[in-house]
Amino acid sequence: MTVQRRKMRSFLSTVAGGPQERSGIELRAGHYRAVQRGLTHEHFDAFVAHFREALEDSDVQASFIDDLLYRVEQMRSDVLGL
Ligand code: HEM
Repeated sequence: MTVQRRKMRSFLSTVAGGPQERSGIELRAGHYRAVQRGLTHEHFDAFVAHFREALEDSDVQASFIDDLLYRVEQMRSDVLGL
């Protein structure tokens, strides 16, 4: 659970733009193993749908949700190593 929390925090701070900025190269390197094991667009799409739902279920402003999801899409190709 501690590891899961750390990963969730790293993910959220990356998507929200700080304090830990991550380069495209770092995102590629960080997901290389997952891509080798079969991480694809399909998984990415499923993740985006769940993330959107979780944000909509919480008190996050709609414009901020759009912002976050836009940033997630900007990172797609680096995460998938494309
Ligand atoms: C914009 C989208 C994403 C961002 C910004 C992101 C960010 C990150 C970060 C920062 C880490 C490193 C966590 C740490 O160890 O501190 C990480 C690891 C990981 N991410 Fe993502 N992630 C994204 C999408 C995804 C998706 C869609 C999946 C799978 C459905 C995924 C699967 C993983 C896995 C499996 C690891 C651990 C890699 C390993 O330990 O080998 N990520 N991600």
